[in-house]
Amino acid sequence: MREKLLQIAEEAEKAVEGAETVEAVEELRIKYLGKKGILTQVLRGMGALPPAERPLVGKLANEIKLRLENELVVRATKLKEREKAQKLATERIDVTLPGTCPFLGSLHPLTTVRAEIEDIFLGLGFQIVEGPEIELDYYNFEALNFPKDHPARDMQDTFFISDEVLLRTHTSPVQVRTFEKTAPNVPVKIIAPGKVYREDDDATHSPMFNQVEGFAVDTHIAFGDLKGVLDSFVRQMYGDQTRMRFRPSFFPFTEPSAEVDISCVICGGRGCRVCSHTGWLEILGAGMIHPRVLEVSGYDSEKFSGFAFGMGIERIAMLKYGVDNIRLFFDNDLRFLNQF
Ligand code: FA5
Repeated sequence: MREKLLQIAEEAEKAVEGAETVEAVEELRIKYLGKKGILTQVLRGMGALPPAERPLVGKLANEIKLRLENELVVRATKLKEREKAQKLATERIDVTLPGTCPFLGSLHPLTTVRAEIEDIFLGLGFQIVEGPEIELDYYNFEALNFPKDHPARDMQDTFFISDEVLLRTHTSPVQVRTFEKTAPNVPVKIIAPGKVYREDDDATHSPMFNQVEGFAVDTHIAFGDLKGVLDSFVRQMYGDQTRMRFRPSFFPFTEPSAEVDISCVICGGRGCRVCSHTGWLEILGAGMIHPRVLEVSGYDSEKFSGFAFGMGIERIAMLKYGVDNIRLFFDNDLRFLNQF
């Protein structure tokens, strides 16, 4: 056994000295010290020796193992250094070549449009506030003049967490939440961007989408103020040539209420497929805040009046960039996102 061990050691040491690459050293390590390696096998066979011989042979085997491990490391280090020196001597690096450009992400188009909308309204003297996406029925409907069985609730069906708690269907509840804090003080000029949820799903309607609410309350707010603010917004967003029109509409929390259209950004109002040959595109709902909404949140509606509007960010972005399917915003397809 002793002779066999010494013979293996001699053979292994010679082989290590003769190894010319780091890979060859690794192969030798596996050959002698690996799980099924030669030395490992011998060590495993020690049980068959007479008990008196075991300590001496065991000691020798361990010494050989340690020595061999050390020699393998020394040889590998030497070879690595040699390879490095060779590379340095032969390889030339052109430091004037441009580097590899790391992949840079960019802002999502909806983030960009939201920021643009915020900038425009900040410029008009509005402040930004946010409200909760999980909302009470009271703020989402009840306080906005949608009683429990009001048919207008059908247009905004949503996920109810309990009878009184739901995923908000619009950003209008932020009006009441804000008024509860500000009343009876004026002026109030707020925009409230954020996510909202509805049971909708088609090319222009998504179950989750983003809205920006805007509202103002003061002593002499008139419909003309709403028109002026929206006209300024539309011109800054879509250009000075863009025209705007108001159509009568209904929201329980505004009176009078209107839908606001802009002249088609694709055909300029002449009529095309995008505007269904009408020349107009709807961008938002608006109106004068209903006196009952002002009253429930603490404003005397005889003294104060206000306007409000709510727009869909996806809709604004689709018109700005000519995107014809709302799902493109949420698919995370880089071929789409890289264009912005
Ligand atoms: C409302 O949500 C009202 N809260 C707006 C309002 C605010 C009126 C203040 C008066 C005063 P409407 O349901 O029309 O209204 O939605 C407003 C805008 O959200 C629409 O013009 C449209 O751009 C967008 N929108 C509505 N549903 C979806 C949907 N499922 N996916 C994407 N955008 C939507």
